[in-house]
Amino acid sequence: MLVTRTARLVIDDSEVSIELPIYSPSIGQDVIDVRPLTAEGIFTYDPGFVSTAACESSITFIDGDRGILMHRGYPIEQLARHSSYVELCYLLLFGELPNSSQYTEFDARVRNHTLVHAQIANFFQGFRRDAHPMAILCGVVGGLSAFYHDHTDNSDPEDRLISAVRLVAKMPTIAAMSYKYALGQPFRPPRNDLKYAENFLYMMFSTPCESYEVNPVYSKALERILMLHADHEQNASTSTVRLAGSTGANPFACISAGIAALWGPAHGGANEAVLNMLDEIGDDSEENIQRFIDRAKDRNDPFRLMGFGHRVYNSFDPRARVMKETCDEVLAELGKADDPKLRIAKRLEQIALEDEYFVQRKLYPNVDFYSGIILRAMGIPTNMFTVIFAVSRTIGWIAHWNEMVAGGLKIGRPRQLYSGEKRRDYPAR
Ligand code: CMC
Repeated sequence: MLVTRTARLVIDDSEVSIELPIYSPSIGQDVIDVRPLTAEGIFTYDPGFVSTAACESSITFIDGDRGILMHRGYPIEQLARHSSYVELCYLLLFGELPNSSQYTEFDARVRNHTLVHAQIANFFQGFRRDAHPMAILCGVVGGLSAFYHDHTDNSDPEDRLISAVRLVAKMPTIAAMSYKYALGQPFRPPRNDLKYAENFLYMMFSTPCESYEVNPVYSKALERILMLHADHEQNASTSTVRLAGSTGANPFACISAGIAALWGPAHGGANEAVLNMLDEIGDDSEENIQRFIDRAKDRNDPFRLMGFGHRVYNSFDPRARVMKETCDEVLAELGKADDPKLRIAKRLEQIALEDEYFVQRKLYPNVDFYSGIILRAMGIPTNMFTVIFAVSRTIGWIAHWNEMVAGGLKIGRPRQLYSGEKRRDYPAR
């Protein structure tokens, strides 16, 4: 990395002056290398990692002030409109768009790995029928480590690729199995003649009793949702995957750690939380909606408008723009624009975009606000929303894991600002 300038840290009341290199990235903000501080016995303090670049990466770039998201240099809006989820997987993993034979080969490879080991079905029987599908996903994906240990030499690029392809291919199968398990319906084997999103919908909604045609409106919308959630730089779940992977852990276990981190309502659980919030709001009268807006603005009330705000985007979330378009298309095509819950959502969006509190804090609807609405309109149960996010994000997680492992492992080990007791002796009793 190119050092363009240096910064100097002078510690008051001491002779210490430390020179710190400043790196210029290919685009984006300069980064001060604080590693020389350790030799002087000082750490940096940055709860929530808001000012810390924890790694070097060339996969995804975000400019939160200007609402820019690019994968390998390609703007998300262009990818969402012109590419496909499988092509995006290739791009994230290999760094370049595939030519047609590379695409055909990669697509065939993914299709070839959709089936899960027959014994994996036994795992499901150990869960209660009302288990949250994210709980099942954490367990079953972690359990894959026990089934696919034939190619787990992390230092071998081909082994890493096989794990990546297996994960991308098997996630929809496992996600659909978790849905079928809750319903008490038989698992549906994948159909490799179908495209990625179509196959996922087929495994979720088909039954052995009747033929099932995948609705093209649904598969197009799901393809968009998968593409828009595929990667998002060093977010909480991706950082979790990197941290787990930094110990040399098995990739399936690392992805399971990412799924756990994604589950929280401040991260991937937000799309589910949006729909739960719409249920809580209940009635779409103006006074009622305003009551919830007032609660969101009240500092003494922990209630937040789910699906609004983002840690990184201060202007708008570029994914939300494309998702909003898709949302409008899906609702119009399905004739569901008048669903009462969706009316509440539209009204919340309108109020928040005009209300001083939200405008001042730059709290725009984020991608999960619209994806939740689309998934609801498609009849997908709320507790499956985060599962679908996890299916999509698997490629981002594994691409980051691969990049980190290929670059040589350094175990992640943050330090702390200790505020506990000083040394004290155990009392004589
Ligand atoms: N509703 C009401 N007020 C909010 C909201 C909200 N959704 N989000 C932030 N605020 C207020 C917050 O109270 C604070 O106000 P004040 O300055 O008066 O104290 C101010 O805005 C800044 O909030 P913050 O908590 O410092 O912001 P953050 O960057 O730490 O949090 C966030 C970002 C996404 C966790 C937060 O906006 C939030 O909880 N949003 C709702 C959950 C959500 O939709 N999450 C999905 C994020 S997108 C998907 C993904 O990438 O995973």
